[in-house]
Amino acid sequence: VFIKSFAKKLIKAFINFFAKLFMKTLGIETSCDETAIAIYDCEEGIIGESIHSQIEMHAEYGGVVPELASRDHCSKIVEVLNNALDDIPLESIDKIAYTSGPGLLGALLIGESFAQGLSTALKIPLIPVNHLEGHLMSPMMEFSELQMPFICLLVSGGHSMIVDVKEKGEYEILGQSQDDAVGEAFDKVAKMLDLPYPGGPYIEKLAVSGNPKAYDFPRPMINSNNLDMSFSGLKTSVLYTVQKIDDLNDNIKSDIAASFQSAVVDVLVEKIKKAVKLTNRSSVIIAGGVAANNFLRKEIKNLEDKNGISVYYPSMKYCTDNAAMIAFVGSKMSHEKYDNKSNARARWPLNEL
Ligand code: KG4
Ligand code: ZN
Repeated sequence: VFIKSFAKKLIKAFINFFAKLFMKTLGIETSCDETAIAIYDCEEGIIGESIHSQIEMHAEYGGVVPELASRDHCSKIVEVLNNALDDIPLESIDKIAYTSGPGLLGALLIGESFAQGLSTALKIPLIPVNHLEGHLMSPMMEFSELQMPFICLLVSGGHSMIVDVKEKGEYEILGQSQDDAVGEAFDKVAKMLDLPYPGGPYIEKLAVSGNPKAYDFPRPMINSNNLDMSFSGLKTSVLYTVQKIDDLNDNIKSDIAASFQSAVVDVLVEKIKKAVKLTNRSSVIIAGGVAANNFLRKEIKNLEDKNGISVYYPSMKYCTDNAAMIAFVGSKMSHEKYDNKSNARARWPLNEL
């Protein structure tokens, strides 16, 4: 045990020393519908960032259209780079990190090609980063007091998982959705209520004036003795309810939104409680787009007093997709095991890092 922990410390010291030699990491994120670039400096933190969101473009189709996403990344990425750099000279960048998965393959390939071009032109190292690892590590950028290990609830349009973040590179998925992601369920229910895409924020807004007890929607797997979740049955239950209503007026919509949101949050809170009990961790992080939901924030915050834990929320711009988290993770990685072959992949589970 002693030798193992000594070896780990030695590796950490080596990586830190190495990181100092590569002060500025430029991160590129194009895995879905955000074109983002940020520069992380080992001493100063994030010193430049820019993001272009494609949400408006995809809204009229009710979801992300992969080919449109790729083309838009292609046409915006140079402008995003210039905005992120502002007065930072491109020549001062020491290495490039980019999201190589998971995500839309066509979109990832745009980021990868751009990253390869920059690294070749500047003759600097290139590092492929896992997007999920970016989300998991992002709170460490903002909260200097936060130490690993901690529990992370990652809830976005594509992912719903509870992860035990033990140390950099060591992540155990304690539980995840067996079907729809939480954000996906919010978006589908929003569609049933004729709300715009992406629907999560609209559901939250409607729910404020609704009665969360008006409809008794199911809380799937809430009592299962594991940390897995399921949201597809809940979504279907909302659909059957909506189909039976002749006059779907604003009051009814608010009640449905509030009842649905309350069912989702009940499940998430219960699973977080179980995760804390199972692991004895004292810090919980909520990340991903759904972390913007104030009702979810409030309910999980309530756990602080009762369970003696600290709950952290990354600021909104770092909850959703961003390049700062990619630059940050890249800054902590040694480039030596990577070559210039294509690493982009649509699927890249955390346990295959
Ligand atoms: O992390 P994100 O920006 O993109 C990825 O999916 O990677 O997450 C977007 C998701 C969408 O499904 C959106 O409806 C949901 O997060 N979302 C919300 C809220 N804001 C965004 N869901 C519930 N309440 C919100 N306030
Ligand atoms: Zn994401």
